[in-house]
Amino acid sequence: MELVFLEEVDSTNEYLKRIPFRSNLFVVARRQTGGKGRRGKSWLSLPDKGLYLSGLFEPLHPKKSSLAGLAFGVAVLRALQEFKDDFYLKWPNDVYVNGKKVAGILPENLSDRLIVGVGVNVSYTLQELQGLSHPATSLLVEGIRCDIGELALKVSQNLILYYEKLREGTFDVKEFESFCPMIGKEVTVLENGFCYTGKALGIDREGYLLLEKDGELKRLFSAEVSVRFN
Ligand code: BTN
Repeated sequence: MELVFLEEVDSTNEYLKRIPFRSNLFVVARRQTGGKGRRGKSWLSLPDKGLYLSGLFEPLHPKKSSLAGLAFGVAVLRALQEFKDDFYLKWPNDVYVNGKKVAGILPENLSDRLIVGVGVNVSYTLQELQGLSHPATSLLVEGIRCDIGELALKVSQNLILYYEKLREGTFDVKEFESFCPMIGKEVTVLENGFCYTGKALGIDREGYLLLEKDGELKRLFSAEVSVRFN
């Protein structure tokens, strides 16, 4: 494994698309000028306030790649749980604490490489996190002080571990479910501008969220919907 630190980059995910392939290469930037979130959103990337990291792996077979977001979500969660055990997951791959998002994951399975981007709010103040599309917090706000370099190492090691599970087919979605309190609860779904509620029943083997709505079973695809629960 190789961990490279950059002063500034547009996006660590984009950086890993441009360079020749090297398996298990991780890049961390002090700041990003064009940090990307899921579903076309931007990711707040002020200097030294967050972990902005991406890892490079061999591409996964499309059948296995649908679970990548879930598995990498567990990998990041487990790194953060070493500080405090009240972090949890929100499907498909956000890390939450106290009803607020602290970390997000952006996996991109391309034809010649798999890139996984991880953003963790480390020392943002609540004021700096205001105005985002979701309620957000940082490790510092939650009373955790940590060194970004050490966190980068821990997260990278866990990403390797969970990538291996994905490749071997041993990642079990039940592990994700066990950290996902929205399972079994009423959730609100936003899909193409429409909003509806239903009960989250679980996650299937392909990573879809199973939802019961008006007595019907729906399978929700992570790229198409956004889900909230209270
Ligand atoms: C999300 O929307 O929850 C995913 C956020 C992913 C952000 C990280 S920061 C490092 C990497 N580079 C990017 O441009 N995005 C990811």
